[in-house]
Amino acid sequence: MRIDVFTLVPHAFAWMTEQRPLAAVLGTELELRLLNYRDSTPLRAGQVDDEPYGGGAGMVLRVDTVAAALDAVYGSVSPQRVIALTPGGRPLTQEVVEELATEEAITLLSARFEGFDERIVEHLATEAISIGPYVLSGGELPAMVLLDAVVRRLPGALGSEESGLVESFSDELDGGLEYPQYTRPAEFRGWNVPDVLLSGDHRRIEEWRREQSRLRSVG
Ligand SMILES: C[S@@+](CC[C@H](N)C(=O)[O-])C[C@H]1O[C@@H](n2cnc3c(N)ncnc32)[C@H](O)[C@@H]1O
Repeated sequence: MRIDVFTLVPHAFAWMTEQRPLAAVLGTELELRLLNYRDSTPLRAGQVDDEPYGGGAGMVLRVDTVAAALDAVYGSVSPQRVIALTPGGRPLTQEVVEELATEEAITLLSARFEGFDERIVEHLATEAISIGPYVLSGGELPAMVLLDAVVRRLPGALGSEESGLVESFSDELDGGLEYPQYTRPAEFRGWNVPDVLLSGDHRRIEEWRREQSRLRSVG
């Protein structure tokens, strides 16, 4: 899979490339390109944004800047999935993540300040995604959230410390939440691990976990 991220702050992604899950698949299952709008802007002095028409505070990412950035990378072959990260997009859910993880390539557009000129969302992007009903200062964290969620679905991304099969929102748990997990010590300050988990009876443990998952997922 190839993921291209257009951003004004490519170095913000550095730490991610050194950690699992990304580090585990970078160069094999995943090709990641971090692309700076400033490198291809047709405007002078690296300008990428401008004041909003109609007045008001802030700066808006220009449509010609983003078009030039896309053209510089893709030429005349438009990418299939171009996702504008914006609070007004459809919510990022595990279902969306699973669907994106089956793609051969996705392109993420992030903005800063006042956000995108609406023509970017309407004409240059194929869709818009929000990571939640709150406003962050830039699209880098949303891009990283999406990247992490998608990349951990790729083969070999997860280590043995983590299961990508039975976890919250997985088919294995009928899309519900994961059951509670415990580890040593079995007793701490009078807080005990449920007896069933210490019983060694795998059938009962499985039943208990399914039931706990169902209880947590209700409502
Ligand atoms: C300060 S925000 C712009 C907010 C915009 N003026 C509004 O009121 O909706 C700057 C950029 O951060 C990113 N961003 C902020 N919150 C986001 C969210 N919840 N989901 C996805 N992207 C977000 C987007 O790229 C956005 O254009």
